[in-house]
Amino acid sequence: MLDLVEPLVTPRLLLRPFRTGDEEALLDLRSRPEVVRHLYWPPPTPDGVRDVVRQRLTMTKLAADGDCLVLAAEDRETGRLLGELDLSLVSVENRHAEIGIILHPDAQGRGLATETARALLDLAFDRLDLHRVTASTNSGNEASARALLRLGFRQEGHLVQCVRFADAWHDELIFAMLASEWAGAPGRIVA
Ligand SMILES: CC(C)(COP(=O)(O)OP(=O)(O)OC[C@H]1O[C@@H](n2cnc3c(N)ncnc32)[C@H](O)[C@@H]1OP(=O)(O)O)[C@@H](O)C(=O)NCCC(=O)NCCS
Repeated sequence: MLDLVEPLVTPRLLLRPFRTGDEEALLDLRSRPEVVRHLYWPPPTPDGVRDVVRQRLTMTKLAADGDCLVLAAEDRETGRLLGELDLSLVSVENRHAEIGIILHPDAQGRGLATETARALLDLAFDRLDLHRVTASTNSGNEASARALLRLGFRQEGHLVQCVRFADAWHDELIFAMLASEWAGAPGRIVA
């Protein structure tokens, strides 16, 4: 059982629970075309984003199948919200979780997704003693696939036309990492 109270600290980021006041930054992040085009849900409305943040205030616990830890990625220097990340407990019995990361376009291409994923994988494997972490991504999402492969994830699957969104079929790529692989993974070493 995890209840994340203290933020995770990386060299450049504070990975902390969401709080009231994050609405505007989250709306901006989730409305950017460069972000929206890779996700299967539409941007929230200005009213809807308040509910999204409210739900996230308590999404700090991992204990049962389906629980989801959702954190904001804050720039340690400026305090700006640069992204959001999640770790979802798929199966307690199989010690399996799934990760996802979304960065504001201003924050992409600086290694911040790698930095965030490193902290999440340390949490998953070292603190939570999980066995397997997976990530799935739209097959056209090259930046995401590159980041996952650079960390040391293996591509395990290519699901053809498995998602129907916005009147089109989408392929999904499935990536996985085992605890034994993370121990020696290229992404674990801080450059
Ligand atoms: C997927 C996503 C999180 C990846 O972000 P990213 O910034 O490209 O990923 P990284 O942190 O690994 O950064 C890697 C890039 O930064 C560059 N970089 C610069 N400084 C770096 C550093 N200190 N360390 C590592 N990479 C660095 C790398 O060369 C690399 O560039 P490249 O991809 O052109 O080769 C981002 O594209 C995103 O938020 N997309 C929209 C939402 C989304 O699709 N999320 C995933 C859903 S499954």
